[in-house]
Amino acid sequence: MNLQQVKGVLTGNLGKLPCPENTALVRRAASNGMVLLKNNGVLPLKGKKVALFGAGAGNPVYCGTGSGFVFTPNPVSVEQGLKNAGITLTSESYLKRTAANEKAVNKKDKSLNFLDRKWSGKTILADAPLPNAQELEAAKAADTAIYVLRRNAGEENDRKAEKGDYYLSDFERADLELLSRNFAHIVVVLNTCVMDLNFANEIPHIDALVYMGLAGMEGGNALADLLTGKANFSGHLTDTFAKQYSDYPAAATFAGADGKPEHPVYHEDIFVGYRHFDTFGIEPLYPFGYGLSYTDFEVITLDAEADWQNITLTVQVKNTGKMAGREVVQVYVSSPAGKLPKPYQELKGYAKTGLIAPGKAETVTITIPTESLASFDEAASAWVMEMGNYLLRVGKHSRNTQVAATVILDATAIVRTVTDILHCDTEIHAPTAPVFENKAEGIALNLNAADCVTIENSSKVEKKTVTYVPQGTDYNSSINGNPFQMPWFCPEETVTVKNCPDATFLDVVSGKVSMEEFVASLPDGVLARIVTGTLEETPYAVESRTGKKLKKISLPQSSGTTTGQYMQSLGIPQALLFDGPAGVHIIGCAATAFPVGMMAAQTWDDALGQELGKAYAREMEAYHITIALGPGMNIHRDPLCGRNFEYYSEDPFLTGKTAAAYTRGVQSVKGRGVSIKHFAANNQETCRTTGNSSISVRALREIYLRGFEIAVRESDPMTVMTSYNELNGVHTSSNRELVTDLLRGEWGFQGLVMTDWGTTSEKAFDLHAGNDLIMGGYRAEKLLSYMRAEAPQFGEDGSVSEIVKSSHFGIVKSYLSQWGSFVPDANGTDTAETTVAAGKEVSEKVREAVKNGTATIRDNADGSKLVTWKGTNRGAYLSRGDMQACAIRVLKMLMDSSAMDDLNNMLK
Ligand code: BGC
Repeated sequence: MNLQQVKGVLTGNLGKLPCPENTALVRRAASNGMVLLKNNGVLPLKGKKVALFGAGAGNPVYCGTGSGFVFTPNPVSVEQGLKNAGITLTSESYLKRTAANEKAVNKKDKSLNFLDRKWSGKTILADAPLPNAQELEAAKAADTAIYVLRRNAGEENDRKAEKGDYYLSDFERADLELLSRNFAHIVVVLNTCVMDLNFANEIPHIDALVYMGLAGMEGGNALADLLTGKANFSGHLTDTFAKQYSDYPAAATFAGADGKPEHPVYHEDIFVGYRHFDTFGIEPLYPFGYGLSYTDFEVITLDAEADWQNITLTVQVKNTGKMAGREVVQVYVSSPAGKLPKPYQELKGYAKTGLIAPGKAETVTITIPTESLASFDEAASAWVMEMGNYLLRVGKHSRNTQVAATVILDATAIVRTVTDILHCDTEIHAPTAPVFENKAEGIALNLNAADCVTIENSSKVEKKTVTYVPQGTDYNSSINGNPFQMPWFCPEETVTVKNCPDATFLDVVSGKVSMEEFVASLPDGVLARIVTGTLEETPYAVESRTGKKLKKISLPQSSGTTTGQYMQSLGIPQALLFDGPAGVHIIGCAATAFPVGMMAAQTWDDALGQELGKAYAREMEAYHITIALGPGMNIHRDPLCGRNFEYYSEDPFLTGKTAAAYTRGVQSVKGRGVSIKHFAANNQETCRTTGNSSISVRALREIYLRGFEIAVRESDPMTVMTSYNELNGVHTSSNRELVTDLLRGEWGFQGLVMTDWGTTSEKAFDLHAGNDLIMGGYRAEKLLSYMRAEAPQFGEDGSVSEIVKSSHFGIVKSYLSQWGSFVPDANGTDTAETTVAAGKEVSEKVREAVKNGTATIRDNADGSKLVTWKGTNRGAYLSRGDMQACAIRVLKMLMDSSAMDDLNNMLK
C-alpha cells in the first residue's frame, strides 16, 4: 500500500473520486438496470411525502463484499436520494434511530476482523428496529410507505434458503405487517439479489415491488428518479424469480444440498433457469426477461429474413402509453425436437430502444447469427441444426412473445465441428424433456441443409513444447527421457535462436530483438518470476542490461502485480492488477462504485455497457492499473450463489453479450484490459477451492462456456482468469483441454491466462496447460524444483515436511508436502528412505501409511528406525519450454500495456 492508501484505511478518508464525471453515467445506468416487478398504480409517487422504513433505507448495500467490494466515499442512500428529489420523509426519527442502532452494533462487534472490514468491506447489517408508536404516528402523515429490504453476499459465502436470507425474516414480516395495518400503500424496494417474493402477495397493501438490486454509489438518486417518475423503468430481469425455491433446477444439489458440497453434479444439464421452468411447465413468479414500465409498448415484427449467415428481424416498437420510455425487444427461439432434447425456448437476440415519446415508434433490427441456433451433439462433437421448424418468438419478456417467423430447415445440418474434449467424469441423469410440436407460424424462412458450409474448428494446437536455445549453448531436455509423463505429455523440441545475452525487453519492444531471442537469454530464475505474481516472491537479481536508472513512483496497490524486479535491469514493466467487476477495489482510495454486474445486464443495453467499461478504464488510467479483474461471467446456476451479484445472468447469451460490450469499452482505452473470470464452472462459493463440478460436454458448450466464448470471439479480452474449482475432475487452471485446446485452439484467444488467487492446483501442471501467470504468486524456488529431479524431504519423525503452498493476502490456504519428484503410492516400484533417530517418535502419519501399504518401518540395531516409502519417482517434469511459452505470453501482454508506458516514463 502507498501512503495515500494507508491514510485512507486509518482515517476512513478515501479522498476524492478521480473521475467525478462518472457520477451521471452511474446514475443513468442504475436507473436503467432497476426492474419494476409490480405496480398497482401507486408509482410514480403521487405526493411529495413518504414514510421510509427498512434496514436498507439509510444504509443500502451498494455492492457486494470481498473482491467485488468498492471503496467509495459517499454512496447515495435511498433516504438521501429521496430527499435530493424533494420528497419529505415522515419517518425521520425512525431513520435516525435505525442508523444509530447499526452504528452501535458495529462498534460492539468482534466477529469481523480487520481484513473483513478493510479489505472485504463487510459490516454487520443490523435489523432495523420496529417503528415505535410515536414514530408510526408521525410517519402516517404520508399515505405511502416505502420499505427497503436489504441483503448482502460475497465471495466464499453462499446464501442460504433460510429466513433472513432467501426468505423474509420474521422480523421483516412483522415490520411489513405493521406497515400494512397503518398505510394505504406500501412500496417494497428489494436491495438484494434474487429472493423469495411470495410475501408481496400475502401481505395486504404491497402495491409495488421495485427490484433495486445493488446499484452502486448513485443507487439512491437513481431509485428516486424512478419512484418520482423523473425517469421511467426499463430494466428487465436476467433471472427467473420462482414461486418456491425447490422449483430451481439445482436446488437439490447446490452447495451440498445433496450432502456432497465438494462434488456438485449438474444433473439438470442444459435446463438451467428459464430453460428449466419453460420446458417442464413450471410457472414462475416473475419470468426471465420481465420488467414493467410506466408506459405501454406495442411490439410488431415488420420483417424477417434468413440465410446461412444471419437471421434478421425488423421490429417496430410503439409507445402506446402516456409517458416516454424504453423497451427491450427480446427474441427467443424454439428449436425442433430431434435426436437431441431441446429446451422450450432460448434467448438468441435482443435490442433496447432509445427513449420513445408517447405515440411515437422506433424500429430496431436484431441480427442473429444463424449458427447460434445449433445445439451441441456430443456424439459427433459438433454443433448441429436438426431438421424442422425453428420458431422465432418476439416480445417483451420470455412469457410474452409472439411467433413472428419460422425458419424451416429441410434436413439436419452440421454447422461447426469442434475438438472432442472436456469429457464428463460422472454419469449425468438429465431430466427427460417433453417434445414440443413446432407448427410453422408467421413469416416462413426456408433454409436448405445442402447450402450449409460446415466450419471445421477443431483445435490445431500441436502437442509439443518448444524451447528456444541461444546459438552456441547446450541444452538437454530434462523431460523427454523421463518415464513419468504428466497428463497430456508433450515432447520438448529445441529451436536455436540468435544468442543475445545483453538483450532487454526494450529491445523487443523496439523490434531490435525477437521475443524468442529475449526469453532464450533469460535464466530460469527470471522466467520463474515472470510467470508468477509477487505474493511470496523472493529476490533474484541479474546484472543490469539497460544501463538506465529507474525513477520509481509510488502507486497504490491492491489485488496483485506482476514482478517488478526487472524494470531497471531488463526493462520489463510491472503491471498492476485490481479487482473488481463493479469498480476499482482499491483499499483506502476513492473509486467509482458502478452498479454491479447483474444490474449492468438488467439494462439489456450493450451500448450503455460499453460506456460503463470505458468509464471504468478512465479510472484505471488515474490509478495506473493495467488489468481489471472482471467482468465475472459465471452463470447463475442457482439463486443462492454468493457471487451472483458480480455475475450477469442465468442465460449464457446475455452473459456473453454483456461481457463483450463491457470489455470493448474498457479496452477502447489504450493499454487497459480486462480479465474475464472465473473460467469456468465456478457456480458456487461453497468448497470453491476444493470442489469438482461435474458437467456434461453439452451443458458446458451450451451453457457454462458459451458466455466466455461469445466474449472471447467478440471482444478479444486481454486476459482470462481460470477458476479455483476442478471441472470434470481436473483443476480448470491445469486443464490443457480448456485453456489451450478450447480457448486458444478453437476460440482463437491471443491473450494471457492467469490463475485465480492461491489456486490449490499443481503449478507445473498449470504452466504446462498454458496457464501463463500464477496469481497472486508462488515461490520461484518451488517452481524451479519441478524442472529437476528432487528427493523428498522428511521431518525427524519420518513424515514428509510441509511448506505453505498457497495463501491469500497472508491467510494460509493450503500446505505443500515436500515430496519433490516422488509420489507415494502403495503400488509404486520406487522407494524413498529416511531414518528416525533412536528415542524419537515415528509420526502417526507414517503409521497410517504402514497400514495402507505405502510405508514400512524397520528397527535398526542402534535403536533408530528406517522408514521406507513406496511410490513413483517422477523425476523432472516441467520443461524450460513451458516456462518460456508462458513468459512470452506475459511479456506480450506487457508490451501493449499501460505498464509499458509507465515504465518508459520512469526510465531515464
Ligand atoms: C477471487 C477473484 C479475485 C481475486 C483477487 C479471488 O479470491 O475469486 O475473483 O479477482 O481473489 O482478489
